[in-house]
Formats: sequence, C-alpha cells, structure tokens
Amino acid sequence: MNVSIVGTGYVGLSTGVGFSVKGNKVICVDILEDKLNRINRGDSPIYEPGLEEKLKDSLSRGLFKATTDLEKAVMFTDVTFVSVGTPSKEDGSIDLKFIEEVSRQIGRILKKKEGYHVVVVKSTVVPGTTEDVVLRNIEKESGKKAGEHFGICMNPEFLREGRAMEDFLKPDRIVIGELDKRSGDTVAKLYDNFDTKILRTNIKVAEMIKYTANSFLATKISFSNEIGNMCKKMGIDVYDVMAGVGLDKRISPLFLWAGAGFGGSCFPKDVQALVSKAKTLGTDPHLLEKTLSVNQRQKTMLVDMLENRMDVKGKRVAVLGLAFKPGSDDVREAPSIEIIRKLKEKGASVVVYDPKAAGNMKMFFPNIAYAQTSRDAINGADACLIVTEWSEFRNLTDYDFSKMKEKVIIEGRKALDPNKVHGFEGICW
Ligand code: UDX
Repeated sequence: MNVSIVGTGYVGLSTGVGFSVKGNKVICVDILEDKLNRINRGDSPIYEPGLEEKLKDSLSRGLFKATTDLEKAVMFTDVTFVSVGTPSKEDGSIDLKFIEEVSRQIGRILKKKEGYHVVVVKSTVVPGTTEDVVLRNIEKESGKKAGEHFGICMNPEFLREGRAMEDFLKPDRIVIGELDKRSGDTVAKLYDNFDTKILRTNIKVAEMIKYTANSFLATKISFSNEIGNMCKKMGIDVYDVMAGVGLDKRISPLFLWAGAGFGGSCFPKDVQALVSKAKTLGTDPHLLEKTLSVNQRQKTMLVDMLENRMDVKGKRVAVLGLAFKPGSDDVREAPSIEIIRKLKEKGASVVVYDPKAAGNMKMFFPNIAYAQTSRDAINGADACLIVTEWSEFRNLTDYDFSKMKEKVIIEGRKALDPNKVHGFEGICW
C-alpha cells in the first residue's frame, strides 16, 4: 500500500521505516527541512537500533522518502498516519495544537482529493480526541463526510525506545480503533503480514487502551519501587523478591524492576494526562497520582542516599548514565536530570558520562563536565552514582573505581556486576 506519515519523531520515523520494511511505499512528512535532508541521506536523526540500516535499505529500494510537502504525500497515498507530538500543557493536560493543525491541513487536501482516503491517529491522545478534533476538523475543512468519503482510525503505538524497530515488526498486539468497517479493513490490510493478534475496537476504546497500558506499567514500576524501598530497609534485595512474585502468570516478571524511577517521553506524560482527564471527569485518580509522586521521590533518592554518606558540597560526583533507559539517547524526563540538578543545588561538582545521551543532556546542563569514558568520569571522584543500566557498566571492575578519592558507589539500577565490583550500595537492594 501507499502510506504517508506526518511527524518524523521516534514513533513516526520508526513506523514509516517499519511499514517500508514490510513492502509498502512510504512518504514521511515533517516541517523541519534539515531533518528531512538527513533522513533522505539515510542519516537517522535519532539513535534507534537497526533504524538507520533499515532506512538506508528502504531508501535504496525506492520504498521510502521524506518531504515537507504534505499535499503530495496525501494525494499519492491511500492512508495517512498522524504521528505528531502531543506535549503536556502547564496543568498536565495534553496540548493538541499540532493535532489540530495537521487535521485541518489534511482536511483541506482531502477537499481536493478524489477517492477514498483513511486518516489514522497514531499520536497518543485522550479518549474523544480522534472523533471530536481530528474527524470534525477534516469534515469541516473538506466538506466531506467521515465514514463515507474518507475513513478514520486510531492505531496506538506501543513502541519502546531503543527497541522501536523490534516492537514495530514483532508487536505483542495491534489495536485498531475504527469508525466503521471500511476504515478498519483498510488499516488491517496494512498489518496483514504481521504475525500477531489484531484487536479491532471502536475509536475511544483504542485511545483508552494506550493510556491504560502505559499507566498500568508505570504503576507497576512505582509499586515495585515502594516495595523496594521497604526491602532495602530490611536488608532484602527486591530483585530476589520480584523474581518469585513475577513467576505468577497473573503478574508477569516484566516491569517489576525497582530503581531510580521511570522517565521518558511516555510514562510521565501519559499518566499525567490521564490524571488531568480524570479530574475533568470528576473521578479522583488517587492511585495514578501516587504513581507519579512515588516516582518523583524515587528519582532523587540516590542523592539522598549519598547525602547520608557525605556532605556533597564541594565534592566531585560522577554520574554514570544519562539516558532515561539504556539503548537510547533520549533524556526526556530522565531521572539523571533531577539528580544532576539536585547535586548542583547542593554545591557538588558534577562530571557525567553516557555512551549516547551526552549531546542531548548538554541542552539541559551546558556547564557540567562531560567525560569521554566511565573511567574518566570516575577517576578522582568522591562518589559515583549509576543512573542508567548501560550494558558496558556491567564490565566495570574494582580496578575502574580504584582511582576514586573515596570509594562511594551507589547504583540506581542493577547495572554493576557484584562479582567484579565490591562495596557498592544499591537503591532498593
Ligand atoms: C514506553 C512503553 O513501554 C511503550 O509501550 C510506549 O509506547 C512508550 O512508552 P519507553 O518509554 O520507550 O516505552 O520505555 P520503557 O522501556 O517502557 O521504560 C520506561 C521507563 O521505565 C524507563 O525510564 C525505564 O528505566 C523505567 N523502568 C522500566 C523501570 O524503572 N522499571 C521497569 O521495570 C521497567
């Protein structure tokens, strides 16, 4: 099929490249020309394992291109995915300005287009948005009727950063929220050659599935962190506990890993958006609010633990790991940001190292020291905090920490190998 995708962020680009890998002809649209030039050269603007190789391959096979020309993209394709950002407003609710604008533009183009076209919302939007905003805007601008002249679907993404290609090509499930059968059939056809379950629902259910899945996973993490904090006080390793708990099929072993809290572009924003929505509905979202507050406290707990061991004022503190998770260069809502901010407030001198995310962190903290290797960050430090579980940290040994002024190492993830490094403290173990 011919597919267009509006928005070339993590989701839009991974989805576009993914559909081209599956044999579709894809046109990705964005307003940022420099970014599109990079994409068209096969130079991915984001780090995502496997993405760049697949992008290059699809470009060379003529299955993929990126453009600023939305009109051509819509005209030449059968389906348009809307994958623009839905940032948070000050009050935590989602800002729909990009969705509003793009749906109006698509409506104006569909006014001129002959034949049937399906618009699919991929962006995470609160229930009601696809029908009340996207559908309405397109109908208004095109003068055409949804379900008759054009189709509408909502197809949430469940892509994890750092595994976006893998998750796209081998998903646990595909959810298609459809206005009517014809819209849903068109999108389902695109997923024909995927070996997974396709769940077809109405549009609002699909929108809510995305928020519920992310809120549940985030709650699972905060729950584990709360149990982990108790375990720590009792001298118990929470990972040993969760290994037993996760064997229960009803619970599953995944997302029970306690640590320095969750970050990223989805969990914090999506839970917050659901909290805001609940308030407008007049239902009290106690549990979800606690999911967020437990996480907020967890993010800086490493600094509190360090302060129990030393006065950090004037001390050199190495922070290993900046990305919100390994395998990604993304630092959005990363615990490392709060940790560095708090260390600086307390008067520490901070030196950081991350294999991928240093460039992005420089936008938040241009004036801290960025080391080229873990060893460079650790040498001469009074303390070391480990915030992201990059696999290379697993190779660190006592020797790597031997040139610290004091060997105070606190890890917020299970990152170190206890057979290679001794005398470190864990956040929940
Ligand atoms: C998440 C969802 O998993 C994905 O389905 C959705 O579409 C987008 O949001 P992502 O943000 O890329 O994906 O990362 P994820 O792997 O889910 O981790 C999110 C955060 O939770 C990370 O900061 C991670 O370190 C943390 N985490 C995860 C934990 O602290 N403990 C866990 O057990 C799992």
